[in-house]
Amino acid sequence: MTRSVTARVPAKVNVQLAVGGLRPDGFHDLANVFLAVGLYDEVTATPADDLRITVSGADADSVPLDRTNLAARAALALAERHGVEPRVQLHIDKDIPVAGGMAGGSADAAGALVACDALWGTAASRAELLEICAELGSDVPFSLVGGAALGRGRGELLTPLETGGTFHWAFAVAEGGLSTPAVYRECDRLRAADGQGATVDDVPDPEPSAALLEALRTADAAALAAAVTNDLQSAALSLRPALADTLRAGTDAGALAALVSGSGPTCAFLAEDAEAAAAVAKALAASGTCRAVRVAAGPAAGAAVVPG
Ligand code: C5P
Repeated sequence: MTRSVTARVPAKVNVQLAVGGLRPDGFHDLANVFLAVGLYDEVTATPADDLRITVSGADADSVPLDRTNLAARAALALAERHGVEPRVQLHIDKDIPVAGGMAGGSADAAGALVACDALWGTAASRAELLEICAELGSDVPFSLVGGAALGRGRGELLTPLETGGTFHWAFAVAEGGLSTPAVYRECDRLRAADGQGATVDDVPDPEPSAALLEALRTADAAALAAAVTNDLQSAALSLRPALADTLRAGTDAGALAALVSGSGPTCAFLAEDAEAAAAVAKALAASGTCRAVRVAAGPAAGAAVVPG
């Protein structure tokens, strides 16, 4: 009998992304406040002769189909730990923008892990899944847990955060992606050019904002809007100056806050309620400053098998 297992995994927006100095290992220490939002990729694992990746959805063409794909690497890591042959087809149905700063690749990795674990009956513990996630990438553990969380270290050391309600967002998807390493490098370059220095000795340790955590806890959208920050935003704008027009279009349309999502180029707009988010999205679509728009609310649950 051939059965399939599908996992659904949310995108994320960083409501605070405080970036410390460049570490000797090439990463940056972060105070990274993640919020999962209801924009999903689905990963379906089906028994096959060999490990195969197929992709559908918007931007499917720009997703690698070889073993550099994070979903493939996730399946291989789980198979190796449990002595299973990775004979599986992973079909990724993408709705999260590719290379967009919304953890699309990380979502696919977390989805592949959860789906393969269920398909193969490997019954990995939560702790083991989190360990594999952290090996795969800094944002992958958050894609597994979802909700809202503070990420320390390079973003992989998670503490769940309390949220008192739902936040409503519009997202402006840009034409083409941005490379995360390139955006971090640009952040370092701008800091060095400022005379500030870019290493851990030069940059203060990143700390979460108490006002921002309180805004999440009390579900106060206006207070959250006043507290959101992204230390990668100036680097993303430096590499993609046109994003300033996108941010302005959302602000002009009444968004409470406008910021680049993670390393970009997707821009995120916080709104008072679902109706206001839809109005911002409509204005963004008409502005000609982005390729596509989405609305989504968060927090959303992390990677989970879709009941069959
Ligand atoms: O962990 P992940 O593979 O997603 O990171 C991709 C790249 O982003 C890293 O190689 C590094 O250049 C940069 N990065 C960083 N500091 C972090 C996370 C990522 O410099 N905390």
